[in-house]
Amino acid sequence: MTPDPARDAEGLIRGDLREITPYEPIAPLDVLSECSGVPVEELIKLDGNENPYGCSPRVHSALSKYLFYHIYPDPLHTELQAPLEKYVGVGREYIVAGSGSDELIDLVLRVFLEPGDKVINCVPTFGMYPFSTAVCGGVTVSVPRSDAYKVDITGVKSAVDDRTKVIFIASPNNPTGNVIPESDLMELMDTGAAIVIDEAYFEFSGKTFALLVTEYPNLIVLRSFSKWAGLGGLRAGYGILPLKIAEIIRRIKIPYNVNIAAMIAVRESLADIDYLRGNVTAIVNERERLSTRLKEQGVLTPLPSEANFILCGVARGDAREIKRELESKGIFIRYFDTPLLRNMLRISVGKPEHTDALIGALAKWEGG
Ligand SMILES: Cc1ncc(COP(=O)(O)O)c(C=O)c1O
Repeated sequence: MTPDPARDAEGLIRGDLREITPYEPIAPLDVLSECSGVPVEELIKLDGNENPYGCSPRVHSALSKYLFYHIYPDPLHTELQAPLEKYVGVGREYIVAGSGSDELIDLVLRVFLEPGDKVINCVPTFGMYPFSTAVCGGVTVSVPRSDAYKVDITGVKSAVDDRTKVIFIASPNNPTGNVIPESDLMELMDTGAAIVIDEAYFEFSGKTFALLVTEYPNLIVLRSFSKWAGLGGLRAGYGILPLKIAEIIRRIKIPYNVNIAAMIAVRESLADIDYLRGNVTAIVNERERLSTRLKEQGVLTPLPSEANFILCGVARGDAREIKRELESKGIFIRYFDTPLLRNMLRISVGKPEHTDALIGALAKWEGG
C-alpha cells in the first residue's frame, strides 16, 4: 500500500521546530571516563557546576528505606510546603516546585508566550532560556552584557516593545558569576515585562530577591536544589511567583512533575540544612583559594565570582588546547569560544584536592 502523504506525521511537525538547535548538555560520567581513559571514580568533574560533596547522607538513607515507589506522588507536593516556606521566607501559596529549575523556566514561558512574543536574554548567559523560548514559540532578543558582564539596563529597556513578555536574568549569572544589583533590577520593574531572576546559585552569593516577590506583581524568582544541595541527578527546583502566576502554573503543569525520589530528597535536604550549608561554605572558601592560586600561577585569568564556578580568560596558551590536555588527565572543565566568550574556560569549584590537581596540570603552561 502506498503511504498517504496526508497521513505523514512528519508533515505535521511545527515549522518553527524543524530547525531548532538542541540544548547542549554536558556529557555523562561514563562518556567522560571513556574519552579520557580515567575510571569514573577518579574523574575530576569541574564542568557542570555540580556539588563535589554530593547530597546529604540523609537523602541516601531515606531513599533506601522508602517502600512506596509504586504509588504516584502528591501533585501539590504538600509535604514540601512547610519546609520550603520556612527556607524561602514567603508563604507556600507563592511557591511551586518542579523537575529542576529547568522545568520552571519552561512553565513560566508557557504561561506568557504566544507565537512570536519576545523574551529578552542578557548574553552571555544560561543556554536554556533561548532553547525553551524557541520550544514555546517565542523569539529571543539578545542584549549583550556590558563591562564586567553587567546587565546593560539601558540596552534592555530600549529592546522592550509591546511583544516583550519576559526578561531573564540569572543572578549569579552562568557563566560569568556576577549578580545583578538591586538598583538595576528596580529599573527593570516598570518595563511591563515579567522579570525572571534565576537564583540557581543563590546559596553561594547569599543575595536573593525572593522576598520582593510578594511586593512586585511582575517579579519571579527561580531556585534549584541541584547546586547547593547536590541533587542535580534527582531534578528538583522551585519558583517563587506572584499569586496569580503560581496558580496558573499549578493548573498547567503535568500533575506528577516532582517524582517521589526528588520529593524525599528535598525534604531530607531541608532537614539537614546545617550540613549542606557547611558544604556551601567549603565551596565558597575553595572558590577564593582557587582564584588566588590561578592568579598566582598566571596561566588563566579568573574573573570575580559569587557562584560555585569561575570564568577564566587565558593568559598563556589556547583555551581549547588546555581543555584537551586537562581532559587527557581526567580533569573536565567547560570551554567557550563564542563572540562574547572568546577563548575562555569555566571551572566549577571542586574540593581542595581538585584545585591542587588542576593547578598541577596547568603548570605546563607556566612562564611559557
Ligand atoms: C543559571 C542556571 N539556571 C538553572 C539551571 C538548571 O538548574 P536545575 O538543575 O535546577 O534545572 C542551571 C544549571 O546549570 C543554571 O546554570
